[in-house]
Amino acid sequence: MATDIERYGTCVTIGGGVGTAIAYPVTRALTEAGNEVISIIGGRSREYVVLEDELREVAHEVYPCTDDGSYGYDGFVTGKLQELIDEGRHIDYVLAVGPVPMMRAVAEVTRPHGIPTVASLTPIMVDGTGMCGGCRVEVGGETKFACVDGPEFDAHLVDFTLLERRNRAYEWWENWRMREMSEAGEPA
Ligand code: FES
Repeated sequence: MATDIERYGTCVTIGGGVGTAIAYPVTRALTEAGNEVISIIGGRSREYVVLEDELREVAHEVYPCTDDGSYGYDGFVTGKLQELIDEGRHIDYVLAVGPVPMMRAVAEVTRPHGIPTVASLTPIMVDGTGMCGGCRVEVGGETKFACVDGPEFDAHLVDFTLLERRNRAYEWWENWRMREMSEAGEPA
């Protein structure tokens, strides 16, 4: 389903790693809809922070963050989000997309403040048509298929523990194949 773009007021879009590529068009659309948009983007270190220049053209404020402090805010995107809340910034809407632990952490930062928060989920998808069930997620106790019902859901209702477990379903085979490729000298 398409992202719900409305005039919310002040929005924060949060992208972790390659999730920033998804946060970018949403940021642009939210700005075009008349919102004030703050973008927080993170990565392990400077080289993993992407699309900063592009976001600066479409967001009102952009805060790059790095886990190792090599660039921008020294810490996780959630630390920067918490800082904005502690400064008394009024926030009407948050969108988070990136690694599951990051989206879970964003939901826990906004929950006590009742800030509507959407997570763009990244389960393993196979057919993308709602037939295979590969992208099954639990939201508010109900089973949803991210490919047809999402991928965006109320982050305060998502069962992130289950999502994390399901995303590791093929880990053994992935590791085995990576080892095989590395032994054969194939590029990963
Ligand atoms: S990817 Fe198969 S049901 Fe969603």
